[in-house]
Amino acid sequence: MKILNELLPVEELGFGLYFAPLKASSHYSKGKWGPTEYSSDLTMRIGSSAKVLHYAQEIFEGMKAFRQVDGSVAFFRPHANWARLNYSARLMAMPDFPEAEFMEMISKMAKQLDHLVPAKPGALYFRPTMIGTSESLGVATSEEFEFFVLASPAGGYFKDVSSDKPVSVKIKVSDKYTRAAPGGTGSAKTGGNYAASLRAILEAKNEGFSNVLFLDAREKSNIEELGGMNFFVVDQGKLKTPPLGDTILAGITRDSILRLAKALDIPCSEEELSIYDVADKIKQGKITEAFACGTAATISSISQLGWKNETLNLGSSSEAGPVSTLLYKTLTDIQHGKSKAPESNWIYPVR
Ligand SMILES: Cc1ncc(COP(=O)(O)O)c(C=O)c1O
Repeated sequence: MKILNELLPVEELGFGLYFAPLKASSHYSKGKWGPTEYSSDLTMRIGSSAKVLHYAQEIFEGMKAFRQVDGSVAFFRPHANWARLNYSARLMAMPDFPEAEFMEMISKMAKQLDHLVPAKPGALYFRPTMIGTSESLGVATSEEFEFFVLASPAGGYFKDVSSDKPVSVKIKVSDKYTRAAPGGTGSAKTGGNYAASLRAILEAKNEGFSNVLFLDAREKSNIEELGGMNFFVVDQGKLKTPPLGDTILAGITRDSILRLAKALDIPCSEEELSIYDVADKIKQGKITEAFACGTAATISSISQLGWKNETLNLGSSSEAGPVSTLLYKTLTDIQHGKSKAPESNWIYPVR
């Protein structure tokens, strides 16, 4: 593990490569969570038969603390991450983690790690994680759990980092692999969903793409989401994203974009997007922009979709379009305290 005691230039940070020398953790046994411990030791000992290692009973979150224009530090929508953590916990037969302890852990860590919060476009990324640690091989829920939080100074998710425009990426639409099926765990933030996407992403990267856009498992027709991001298009000026369901992670960035679009008077809808219609509309010039969004990557403009043997080019160049750029600027200005959030609990100052 690469531990940082002082910040590197934001261009060198990348995503998830470096860690702050501080971890918060709590252990669950006999039906309750124990006291929070803080440690600079980022390693852990668990039994080789721990449930997480065999049956993937694991959930996590991804959230960021941002350097504000006045020099202070604030989290973006941390209560939403806490709520989604517990949604994932219920889907994975794991215990809820209490809100007060969650907020205290991340706040104490951010306060102590102030010197490791990079300036825009970087941020201090937090990774709350819960794993089942009971040591036995029966397929059953764990009775003991470990909850811990790591912090990682982050620059850009994709290689390029630019502070005022979304990065442009090429994405492969998978006609071969799917990541989540109805009735499964696709809407939980659990490791297994990501394991299911690794081979598809590896193959796409070998073909020169940055990531994969997955379709629904039944018909392989409706667009769902990328390996770690939600998906939007701009169709004749209207912003569209697939509706949430049990195969899509309810992204906090997705929700923020929908709310910001309303505030900006950009028409928007949550509706099923068939890849066949999307491909036709891109060719007809009706869909002019597409982008992926998430905490790690904010908004990444999609300049090209590879679909079967076709290359679908969006816009006239690899520059992000006007709607993606406006949303990116609006969102990042709010995250960095440059403009006011539409809802008071979006910005959570570290005190
Ligand atoms: C599968 C998946 N979809 C969407 C997202 C975007 O979610 P958020 O905006 O809350 O980061 C993520 C990232 O967390 C993800 O892993």
